[in-house]
Amino acid sequence: MHIGIAADHGGFAMKEQLVVALKSAGHDLIDFGAKKLNATDDYPDFIIPLAQAVARGEVERGIALCGSGVGACVAANKVHGVRAALIHEHFSAHQGVEDDDMNIICLGSRVVGYAQAWELVETFIAARFSGAERHRRRLAKITAVEREVQECK
Ligand code: RB5
Repeated sequence: MHIGIAADHGGFAMKEQLVVALKSAGHDLIDFGAKKLNATDDYPDFIIPLAQAVARGEVERGIALCGSGVGACVAANKVHGVRAALIHEHFSAHQGVEDDDMNIICLGSRVVGYAQAWELVETFIAARFSGAERHRRRLAKITAVEREVQECK
């Protein structure tokens, strides 16, 4: 799968580990940074470019990391077309895709360990949107709000 990944300093070390694992698993990966550890960097500088690439379809899915995963999730969801969620347990890692067409998984590297993060990422990547009518209907209501906001500008 064509995947994008991004992290601030809080998620940097875990991102580096995930990059190695994703490449070994054969995924086509774009790393949106940070490219080196800088304790004063800001998560929007890396997460927003990742989110824009997901929204434009340049990558199919995104993985966004920071210390808690919260800032990454808040930032990613500002980009229309992104459906990002902070995921720290198995059920939501697949159900979020199956029902809600989640396209970015957000992880807190200070919350979960690497083994857990990798399992969540693998689960997220393997999951597919069910396409069920009720889920499409709900997502259409969210897209409608995005359109309204766009028209207000
Ligand atoms: C950075 O220290 C930390 O605040 C950031 O990585 C993240 O946890 C924000 O939500």
